[in-house]
Amino acid sequence: MKNFQYYTPTRVIFGKDTEDQVGDLVRAQNCTKVLVHYGTGSVKRSGLLDRVYASLDAAGVSYVSLGGAVPNPRLSLVYEGIDLAKKEGVDFILAVGGGSAIDSAKAIAYGMKYEGDVWDLYLKKTPPADATPLGVILTIAATGSEMSDSSVITNEEGWLKRGLSSDLSRPRFAIMNPELTYTLPEYQTMSGCVDIMMHTMERYFSHEMDTGLTDYLAEGLLKRVMEAARVLLKEPQNYDARAEILWAGSLSHNGLTGCGRTGDWACHQLEHELGGMFDVAHGAGLAAVWGSWARYVYPSDAARFAKFAVNVMGIPYDYADPEKTVLAGIEALEDFFRSIHMPVSIGELGVELGEEQIKELAYKCSFMETRTIGGIRKLDKEDIEKIYRMAK
Ligand code: NZQ
Ligand code: ZN
Repeated sequence: MKNFQYYTPTRVIFGKDTEDQVGDLVRAQNCTKVLVHYGTGSVKRSGLLDRVYASLDAAGVSYVSLGGAVPNPRLSLVYEGIDLAKKEGVDFILAVGGGSAIDSAKAIAYGMKYEGDVWDLYLKKTPPADATPLGVILTIAATGSEMSDSSVITNEEGWLKRGLSSDLSRPRFAIMNPELTYTLPEYQTMSGCVDIMMHTMERYFSHEMDTGLTDYLAEGLLKRVMEAARVLLKEPQNYDARAEILWAGSLSHNGLTGCGRTGDWACHQLEHELGGMFDVAHGAGLAAVWGSWARYVYPSDAARFAKFAVNVMGIPYDYADPEKTVLAGIEALEDFFRSIHMPVSIGELGVELGEEQIKELAYKCSFMETRTIGGIRKLDKEDIEKIYRMAK
């Protein structure tokens, strides 16, 4: 097992009606003015935003609002948020919504404390030194941004999607009421389930084998998310299944399922370029590339892929031909993705890739040929091109 740090400072307030506590939770932060930041309308339609305002009013907290964070949240709105927050004297941000509203809030939080262009931080020109504190009311089980140190923003100039990770952006609190997720369309629910699984799988596919406890946690989480996703296909308002994936989303990206080993993260890098250029739903984009990535890299650690096949996908180990076990495991996960109506190719994602686009995606994904991606197998621009070609 490798040395590791595990840091999860976010207070989780989980369960029915918990959003009613938001006024008191924000007041306890000793802030003077709050920026309430949200997406493109779901929180208005559901009435959640009005309940949030009522709770803030009752607690005597003053606030301003900014909506409009779209999936693959844009840098232009982040700039708008920074200007508004500075003008209004904001000292706490409350994100209400999904990963996109939360990530946009995190970017605003960084930008408020940075003299230069906040995009510099996402380009890693300089590390962030400070950020305005934030809290979250979560409405979708997916990214784990409510407990993670990450934020992912898309710059419309060049359509680059870039992430920034720092403990400065970990939310102070995360309110999670599974009932708030009942209104999600099936596609978003299932896309979220894929993302949750992938956050654990990106950590699971690692050369370190001596992480038995972490493996059990990861395997249990993956199996439970698959079970719950199957239930939600038929019963979208099943409270227990909604609750399980909501909690799994947080545990899958707060570091727990990666303790003691290094992760891979190639599928996320491959998807982020697709999201930046084609504006696809993040989890669906991950499902579209995973099988091709797995078939390309498994020879680098067939034992790990076999363990996944047996312990997660329930494939019997083929002692005569272990490679068959590996391939059956990959196919079984693709079958699961199909069963929850997720794409298993970029074409099924609704994107027809030409050769020029494959080259552009790979060029961007390799950070203009300055980095490799992946841990199980290091992938350079040529490898990345091949995977996009296999996945198209
Ligand atoms: O904008 P609104 O109207 O809220 O609609 C959203 C959006 O259309 C809708 N939605 C959310 N909650 C709903 C709802 N509709 C009905 N009822 C509800 N309760 O669902 C759509 C998707 O929302 P979004 O916030 O975009 O989804 P998600 O949470 O999957 O976030 C995706 C973004 O997070 C990034 C992704 O790349 C993507 O940009 N990620 C962030 C990470 C992090 N910060 O740690 C890690 C991830 O790997 C990921 O990269
Ligand atoms: Zn993700």
